[in-house]
Amino acid sequence: MKKITKAVFPVAGMGSRFLPATKASPKEMMPVVDKPLIQYAVEEAVAAGVTDMVFITGRNKRAIEDHFDKAYEMESELEARGKHKLLRLVQETVPEHINCIYIRQAEPLGLGHAVLCAAPVVGDEPFAVLLADDLIDADPPVLRQMVDAFAARPNSLLGVMEVPRAETGAYGIVSTAGEEGGARRVSAIVEKPAPQEAPSTLAVIGRYILTPRIFHHLRRVQAGAGGEIQLTDAIAALIDEEPVLAFPFAGVRYDCGSKLGYLKATVAYGRKHAEAGAAFSEYLAGLGAGGGGR
Ligand code: UTP
Repeated sequence: MKKITKAVFPVAGMGSRFLPATKASPKEMMPVVDKPLIQYAVEEAVAAGVTDMVFITGRNKRAIEDHFDKAYEMESELEARGKHKLLRLVQETVPEHINCIYIRQAEPLGLGHAVLCAAPVVGDEPFAVLLADDLIDADPPVLRQMVDAFAARPNSLLGVMEVPRAETGAYGIVSTAGEEGGARRVSAIVEKPAPQEAPSTLAVIGRYILTPRIFHHLRRVQAGAGGEIQLTDAIAALIDEEPVLAFPFAGVRYDCGSKLGYLKATVAYGRKHAEAGAAFSEYLAGLGAGGGGR
């Protein structure tokens, strides 16, 4: 049985909903409190036993490479100033045993195309895909939950959650039929269906474990909506060949690709932050009571 050792992080999207913040920096570098979204995702992968982090980068790749690189100047400066706690924080961005691999997606041709760019590095192994703008607060972390499920039954897994019917147009939506060892087998998947056409309200969220067969289908799918190569279309072809299971993870998901979701995440993570949480919660309580807050 193959272990999941590789995770793919597509970070080459336009991030147009967050312009101008994303003009010179990928949206995955936006911080929730004091940590960029991509670091939450990498930490989740590390906690799931992944050792090779494959970033599919676009025009603004520098910021992500620099973030996971060694910061020699900053480290010696912090050392010289005796700021040991901060020094540890900087050094711990990536644990020693982790490899970071960067692949350039020359044009943002869609999530499916971004995942296909990872094929030469992933090879013939099952692998994980994490979309860092889906920040999921969960214990154990969601990818850990999925890797454990995969160890018990080595089928492709799609992280799913129920969404309001009015919102189906923002997601890949799955129908399920039949059981595969207690899990729900995906029978159909459609990208962004209108509410009245959606086959269900079970939406795919940015966590996947995929078998390498997905690359075969990604090479064949035609550009779909918006001229993009959709991961959803390749998964639709995969389900005709092998079981693909829906994985209703336990956890609270924040859509940090949208302004409202990002703000909600900031409040939730801010409230429980070790350093600022207590004062921030007090501040919010003051706002709730009609106070202006300062
Ligand atoms: P989104 O659908 O959220 O698109 O991509 P986006 O372009 O990043 O953001 P908006 O809609 O313009 O605001 C889902 C994920 O796929 C990656 C994105 O970085 C994000 O993690 N992606 C998307 C790529 O890596 N390459 C692409 O060509 C498209």
